[in-house]
Formats: sequence, structure tokens, C-alpha cells
Amino acid sequence: MKELKLSASKNYNITITDGKDLFIEKCLPYLSGEKVAVITDSNLMKIYPDYFEKLLPNKKVFYYTIKAGEESKDVNNYVGIMNYLVEKEFSRNDGVITFGGGVVGDIGAFSASTYMRGINLIAVPTSLLAMVDSSVGGKTAINLDKGKNLCGTFYQPNGVYIDLSLLKTLPDNELKSGLGEILKYKYVDGKKNISLDKIDEELIYNCLQIKAEIVAEDEREGGKRKLLNFGHTFGHAVEKLNNFTLAHGICVAIGIGYALRFSEKYYNGGKEDFNTYLSLMQKIGVDFSEAYDKYDKDKLIEIIKYDKKRKGDAIDFVLIDNEKKLRVVPVKIDDIKEYI
Ligand code: GLY
Repeated sequence: MKELKLSASKNYNITITDGKDLFIEKCLPYLSGEKVAVITDSNLMKIYPDYFEKLLPNKKVFYYTIKAGEESKDVNNYVGIMNYLVEKEFSRNDGVITFGGGVVGDIGAFSASTYMRGINLIAVPTSLLAMVDSSVGGKTAINLDKGKNLCGTFYQPNGVYIDLSLLKTLPDNELKSGLGEILKYKYVDGKKNISLDKIDEELIYNCLQIKAEIVAEDEREGGKRKLLNFGHTFGHAVEKLNNFTLAHGICVAIGIGYALRFSEKYYNGGKEDFNTYLSLMQKIGVDFSEAYDKYDKDKLIEIIKYDKKRKGDAIDFVLIDNEKKLRVVPVKIDDIKEYI
């Protein structure tokens, strides 16, 4: 077992362990009301219908299950969750558990953050991507027609419980998606020993340590936290061009390729990072050149225009300079095409 503390607008523990034995000790104290809503998806309900059995003694437990998949992270499901909580007479001291990957985590946390202006929230991420990134740091979201995560809040959970045994049933494609997000951490903190070779407690701890330090310093993404978006501007555009059928982390991994190409042209830099990147992409099982040829640049830019990181006629890109340091650089929308 490993444990991390995150100090932001809420201070909370992130428990990384193998199995659910520690859940009661680590999480139950934060679910003090009589009711708990477990927000989950259709796949998880099939595989783990009894996961919380015996973990929530003396609680009235309700389940709200959304269809698995990114398209479920929408306004309709959000309103559905809110109405469900009202119907079940949830009050401010009742709580929500998100049990799922990034989609469930984002929409469930957004619901918890807005229901009666915020109720207690425990995150139990089930995908590698959610374990190393989205369950920690307090970003909540739903998608709007024009793009991903355009509606959301910053709302820290009261605890995060990472049970590595849940990865046993994760499809290979989802493991690779998690590796895409882990690849990001390799660039965010070059000093940390992040390897894509072995998925274990230590790897998850190392990624989250980087994230916890950044979030503690810049919870609301005024500065340093923007670095955690490395690869995400193009990644989100690739995701949308694929109608969300390609896993988020795979899109981020492709987006990192675009960001590296962009950086090379922007800084007139060398090719070294790109070759390392290509070899790491083999572990993720994606051929970047193939992906790069596939996507129409104008279509990518058209999507990027609606990115949250837009400020006036420019978008903040996270680029890597010639000293291999990540930097946030505003680039005019009209100039994007010359760098990709
Ligand atoms: N996934 C990026 C962040 O949490 O800031």
C-alpha cells in the first residue's frame, strides 16, 4: 500500500493498494450521511455488481448506471443524475462514489460538485487512465456539442481509493490508453523515473506524486497546472474527429506527437525527443505517422478553435523547448497551421 496526501482547497488522501480491504478505513469516514449514490457504467455493473457489498455498512446505497462510453458524458445524463439524487431525497450530508473510468469520474464528480452546491465525493477509479490522472486533482466535466469538457468545475474529492486489482479486467486497449497519459508525465517531469514497462503501485504513485505537487501549487490551472495538458489540445481534437471512438489516452499520445512536431518547428529544435517518442509509441501500439497522415489539418484546427485554452485569437499550447522544458506558449489560431 502506498499513500499520498494532496493539499488543495480540500486536503485528502489517495490510497494506492491491491484489493478493497482498506476501503472502510480510508473512505467510510467521509461518507457520514445515511445515503450513498454509486455512479458507475454498464460494463462495470456487469463485472463488479457486488464490489461495494459489505463496504458501506448501515448505508442506503443507490446505483446510477450510465452506458459505458464517452458519449454518456453529456447534459442528459448529468440532468438524469441530478434528478435521481433529488428523487431519492439526497441531502447535503449524503455522498457520491464514482466507480469507473474517466467518463464516470468526470460526470459523477461534476454532479457531486453541483448537487446542492456540493456533496461529499469519493473516487474509486477503475481504469489505468483514471488512476494516474483524472480521479485526482478535482477537474470535473461534461462534454458539449462543440467539444470535450467544455462544462465543468474544480471540485476536489474527499478521498481517492485506487484498487489495482481492478486492472485485471481492464481491456488491453484501455491499458494502452492509460499508458498514453503516463507518457505525458514522462515529459512533464523529466527527472522522475516514469517507465512504461511495468504497471504497478510505484508507477501510479510516481505519476500521482507529480500531479499532487502541481495541483497543490496551482489548483485552478492559472499557471503550472497547464503543463498537465501536454498533448491534450491536439489529443482532444483527434478524439472529437473520431467521434470519441478512440480512447482518450491514445488520443493524448497522438496529441503529444503533434505537440513535439509543433515544438520542433516553433523552437527550430532537434529531432531527439521525437525519436524517443516514436519508440515509446510502439509500447502504446500506435503508429504516429499513420495517424498524422490520417487527420486533416484544417479540421483539427477548426476543433481546436473551441478549446478551453483559447484566449481571444490565440490558444495556449504546451510546447517543449530545446532544453526539454515544457512551456505554455500562446499561439495565434491563424498561425497554428504553419507549425503542424
Ligand atoms: N488532466 C490534467 C489535469 O488534471 O490538470
